[in-house]
Amino acid sequence: TAVDPCAIVLFGSTGDLTHRKLAPALFELAGAGDLPSDFAVVGFGRRPWGDDQYRESLRETLAKGAEGPGFDEAWSRFAPHVVFVEGNLDDPAAYSRLKGRLEEVDRTHETRGNRLFYLAVGPEFFAPIVARLGEAGLIYPADRGEGPWSRVVVEKPFGHDLESARRLNHELKGVLDEGQIYRIDHYLGKETVQNILALRFGNAIFEPIWNRRHVASVQITVAEREGMAGGRGDFYDKAGAIRDMVQNHMMQLLCLVAMEPPVDLSADAVRTEKVKVLQSLPRWSPGQVDAEVVRARYVAGALQGEDVPGFLREKGVEADSATETYVALRVMLNTWRWAGVPFLLRTGKRLPKRATEIAIQFRNPPTSLFEADTEASPDVNQLILNIQPKEGSSLAFQAKVPGSRSRLRSVRMDFRYGTSFARPVPEAYQRLLLDVMLGDPTLFTRTDEVEAAWKFITPILDAWARPEAPPPGSYPAGSWGPEAADALAARDGIRWRRL
Ligand code: BG6
Repeated sequence: TAVDPCAIVLFGSTGDLTHRKLAPALFELAGAGDLPSDFAVVGFGRRPWGDDQYRESLRETLAKGAEGPGFDEAWSRFAPHVVFVEGNLDDPAAYSRLKGRLEEVDRTHETRGNRLFYLAVGPEFFAPIVARLGEAGLIYPADRGEGPWSRVVVEKPFGHDLESARRLNHELKGVLDEGQIYRIDHYLGKETVQNILALRFGNAIFEPIWNRRHVASVQITVAEREGMAGGRGDFYDKAGAIRDMVQNHMMQLLCLVAMEPPVDLSADAVRTEKVKVLQSLPRWSPGQVDAEVVRARYVAGALQGEDVPGFLREKGVEADSATETYVALRVMLNTWRWAGVPFLLRTGKRLPKRATEIAIQFRNPPTSLFEADTEASPDVNQLILNIQPKEGSSLAFQAKVPGSRSRLRSVRMDFRYGTSFARPVPEAYQRLLLDVMLGDPTLFTRTDEVEAAWKFITPILDAWARPEAPPPGSYPAGSWGPEAADALAARDGIRWRRL
């Protein structure tokens, strides 16, 4: 499908996300010829800038590590598409200026009235910006697949609990139709995450054993080495790992692993199946939260030979903060497919490695005919889906050690993107931006999906807010998390995978 000509309006146009992700994604897309020939990138912001100054600020970022004749040429083709509109987010007059400029851009850049508004700003601005856009007449009635369109991309966090998420949905829908709202979860833009569905439903060999009869447990890990880099302490202190990673990214991974096959790959068919997974999650009582969820924050430690401070010493973090930088939880889904299978989820900052993976642990053979090798893993069959930085998957099984004895050892069959496919794996934001321009919301979160995720998370937050709640534990930076997390897994006889 061809991408319609359009203007991409960036709110937060001088911010971190624009510089780190959005501008590079647009630049790459343009360079690869994936954008329509008629497009404009419209930065909107407070700085007293003209087009040239904004262009220069983007050029500096994009040039990092890319200087050379190839870059200069690509940039000279991209630059004329970039414009800047000065304005304050809460000043109605600024929105009429924006409207005027967009109408001009429709003529100069032939963008035909199509508008993608990207809200790369703090969550407190989502609803006010959308309200101003509505008042300024910048939002068309619902997207009906003909005539010009307006679509709004909403960044995370989408609410900070169930009630605020509902309120935000309500406020957005006062102006926008559901089909015009694109709630982003950049994990869904990752090629390796989309491959979960390809592996499950593009093959016939996995699905027959993808259930409680054959799967003993599932581990989902999102480990990060980063701490509060880039001045994130202040933001993160208000969020914590459960809101920052579990409510969105990890819930999405869980959905893709656990969902039933959709009837087709249409946006609603896929999202309907994901919502069912979220609805099958328990609503924990505070006591159950204390038993099933471990939270902790890092204290000073060492990472790659470097001393790093504890969370409470990070810039922007309150000295008496109770915010968690690590969460591990054990959850069972109340469905015929998964009843009784523990799903163990963990995520943390300042862990020894950056690694995201999903491990499906299959049941062991009913009896053992062979001698176990001392090196053989007790986990006989495991399918690992490597999301990042390793990209691929691998299946562990037992093989006979050559020799006269009947000894077994665990071996692996590996798939790696880098070796199997000649092309690089695109950045998540490239795919997602293109999907918005194409009007395909499959990889974006629907209203009921966000709310269903919060219905699981909010009781955890409420339990932690009790005065009698056990306080967060701690782990040294550079370690794999608190001991309590090991104890949580050990209840089912499970050990967290060593990554
Ligand atoms: C973001 C979180 O949504 O995802 C960050 O706010 C986190 O705290 C990041 O570091 C991880 O994304 P990725 O793509 O690097 O795994």
